[in-house]
Amino acid sequence: MAGAASPLTPDAIVRLEDGRLVLLDQTLLPGERREKSYDDWPEMVEAIRAMVVRGAPAIGVAAAYGTAVAARGGRDHFHEACDGLAAARPTAVNLAWAIQRMRDAAAEASDEQLVPHLEQAARELHRQEVARCVAIGDHGAGLLDSGARVLTHCNAGALATGGYGTALGVIRSAHGHDPSLQVWVDETRPLLQGARLTAWELAQDGIDATLLADSMAGWVMAQGQVDAVVVGADRIARNGDTANKIGTYALSVLAAAHQVPFYVAAPTSTIDPSAADGSAIPIEHRDPGELAGASAAEGVAVYNPAFDVTPAANITAIVTELGVHRPPFRFA
Ligand code: MRU
Repeated sequence: MAGAASPLTPDAIVRLEDGRLVLLDQTLLPGERREKSYDDWPEMVEAIRAMVVRGAPAIGVAAAYGTAVAARGGRDHFHEACDGLAAARPTAVNLAWAIQRMRDAAAEASDEQLVPHLEQAARELHRQEVARCVAIGDHGAGLLDSGARVLTHCNAGALATGGYGTALGVIRSAHGHDPSLQVWVDETRPLLQGARLTAWELAQDGIDATLLADSMAGWVMAQGQVDAVVVGADRIARNGDTANKIGTYALSVLAAAHQVPFYVAAPTSTIDPSAADGSAIPIEHRDPGELAGASAAEGVAVYNPAFDVTPAANITAIVTELGVHRPPFRFA
């Protein structure tokens, strides 16, 4: 389905329409704006794995809608969809969190009311995730000084959350008070979520952004050109250890070495109360071809973890919709 040139509202990123899940295809951005729609869960699993929709809260929202679509095939089919979608990607806990909420909603509904009840529950979950991002933005904006030069990694924007964004929510909110704010955008190897998606979102909002290769971050910090790092999260353990896009850990080490504050912005749906620390967080390893592409020497072995874990000791503060949390972190 060809996409219309609609603004980047929550519904333009992920929505339910006529009993189908509709996704803005993030693999094609920024070159092409096209939607894809899905009416059964196995193809939704493939879409999540292929990163048609990506970012921790956004895959949770998409899966919530996906289970509501699957419920049209009956209660057993709904539960199969819950199991299948929960296994689509391992690191972001928002996926399991959203699906558990849908299971809870299903348990409250009669068979006759199952589909409308789940559709309503998924829409409400989406609305609440976006509202959490707006609150995160407002809490986090206060951490940035006037004229701050902020470095971010990957895409923790509207595309990654189903609307507004977490790290980009903080940046958006701060920019609303202080248009002189500037953003360094890590390109984010190997899938270039920074170069493709974050740079695109910031351009749409008229926020001053400069792209840099991941390997340049240390040098711009050494030159005193970064006032804060703000990133999103895929899973936060009880002690504050935080999984996020590969490269985040290295950034946190660089930030500590240069006395640059390092902030994590995420909704409470990203906190995993079952993980005592980062060692309990599963790390997704992706297709070697994503890294090797066409340019690597043929046959070379490839190591391609999609995420890493930043120890709580390297994090200055974690911003959730509840406020700014400082160390020592003790999440329930
Ligand atoms: O592999 P991706 O693109 O899904 O990874 C996304 C990230 O690592 C984001 O930084 C994270 O999900 C936070 S999104 C608000």
